[in-house]
Amino acid sequence: MLSHKIDQNTELKLLERHHAEAVFRLVDANRDHLRPWMFWVDDTKTVSDSETFIQKALEGFARGTEIHLGIWVDGEMAGIVGAHTIDPIKSYAEIGYWLGKGFQGRGIMTRAVRALIDDLLGERGLNRVEIRCAASNRRSQAVAERLGFRREGRLKKATPVRGGFEDLLIFGMLAEEWRSGKKDMGR
Ligand SMILES: CC(C)(COP(=O)(O)OP(=O)(O)OC[C@H]1O[C@@H](n2cnc3c(N)ncnc32)[C@H](O)[C@@H]1OP(=O)(O)O)[C@@H](O)C(=O)NCCC(=O)NCCS
Repeated sequence: MLSHKIDQNTELKLLERHHAEAVFRLVDANRDHLRPWMFWVDDTKTVSDSETFIQKALEGFARGTEIHLGIWVDGEMAGIVGAHTIDPIKSYAEIGYWLGKGFQGRGIMTRAVRALIDDLLGERGLNRVEIRCAASNRRSQAVAERLGFRREGRLKKATPVRGGFEDLLIFGMLAEEWRSGKKDMGR
């Protein structure tokens, strides 16, 4: 088990096959909450779909092109944070995340994303990370803004939301900015 504590109650653990049941239960209990933003929700119909996701995630982890971490709060699965794209040639990663509805509003995701970025821009030595989110997804944008990301662009009608397409906002952070932000803001 690979794990990293981010505070007294909260732990990040590399997703493994035996977490599939917990992942599926959380998705199943939060379909209405997740559906507007996570395109895969309705394709997650059984525990075996969550197993397949984890299997692919682990293959990506072994290749060094993905990392997906379960977020555990007081021993209960609360959500997932990860980089679904890690590109060693371009030296960048794209981060994605979600929480069960009842775990929102406590700063859990901001701390989880901060720990992941420390790994991506520190330990793994990447040059840049991105967070991309729908223009109407204020909570997701707030995570990026709280961590000091710069809004760099807007792609027109580039992401599916509620049966239509919405503009996609791109937030970026460079390794040098992250390092100096850590010094200046105690991040
Ligand atoms: C996006 C998502 C993860 C954000 O969750 P969140 O709870 O708003 O984010 P955090 O866990 O960082 O918590 C921040 C909230 O906790 C509060 N908070 C409390 N203690 C805090 C702390 N120590 N540090 C930071 N924030 C803290 C903040 O004020 C903020 O509250 P508010 O938004 O109610 O004002 C969540 O809304 C979600 O899963 N949405 C559905 C899936 C999704 O949209 N994923 C992203 C796709 S791009």
